[in-house]
Amino acid sequence: MRIFKDPETMQCWALEQRVAGQIIGLVPTMGYLHDGHLSLIKTATRECDIAVVSIFVNPTQFGPNEDFGRYPRDSDGDLTMCEEHGVDVVFMPDADAMYAQDASVYVMENRLARNLCGASRQNHFSGVCTVVAKLFNIVQPHEAFFGQKDYQQAAIIRRMVCDLNFAIDIRVLPIVRGRDGLALSSRNIYLSPDEHQRALALNRSLQQAYELFFAGENRASVLKQSIRELLEAEGLKIDYVEIVNGETLVAVSDVEMGNVILAAVYCGKTRLIDNCIV
Ligand code: PAF
Repeated sequence: MRIFKDPETMQCWALEQRVAGQIIGLVPTMGYLHDGHLSLIKTATRECDIAVVSIFVNPTQFGPNEDFGRYPRDSDGDLTMCEEHGVDVVFMPDADAMYAQDASVYVMENRLARNLCGASRQNHFSGVCTVVAKLFNIVQPHEAFFGQKDYQQAAIIRRMVCDLNFAIDIRVLPIVRGRDGLALSSRNIYLSPDEHQRALALNRSLQQAYELFFAGENRASVLKQSIRELLEAEGLKIDYVEIVNGETLVAVSDVEMGNVILAAVYCGKTRLIDNCIV
């Protein structure tokens, strides 16, 4: 397994591989890998000639009061995991190699990024779009793999790829959950055992709404209220509960197949998100 830290070296190597006809798959991550990342990595290694995993805790997607400083990091563990799962290349740059001191160009999506997580995390998606665009240029992938847990992120990246003409196939793979139903996230490590138990209400509440929908209830207001009640009963602080069109992310009032139910909560100090497609 090769490890590149320098963006230019990574890019030159990737361009050579493309010329040699190799299909490159990229799994962008912020490290502290778990089974959710592994499902993306396994698909990339199976379906592409070269699987590249990027590991970079991207400072520009964290707000000033967010957890950039304490975001969990474990480079050694991540590298072992990548090696064991047949990853060909790990790209792990330092922040100053990724961002020039005087950088002044950022990528901003102006419609899908406004609501849901974008409403409470100002500039978050601009940070995501900017780093993902840079990773696309550096790693030169034919395919890039993302998790459905970050539904809004995936929708925005698809939009960016379309609007900026990146010739990259965006693959979004299903949410991976623990045995207890909690969607896997590097941030789950912050949860105390009691918080972890309470956090299970997030998936449970979405499942309950999903079942209500299939039992004939299609009023978004009723479904959202059922979710709110369950979350509040567990003492989770709600950031948002929303049901949206899966492409435009516009809130719906009458729920249809293909719509997406999303929620974000604070469990103690930890912000958790989850969603389900009906
Ligand atoms: O989903 C993530 O882990 C990050 O937002 C990403 C896509 C790696 C960009 O930093």
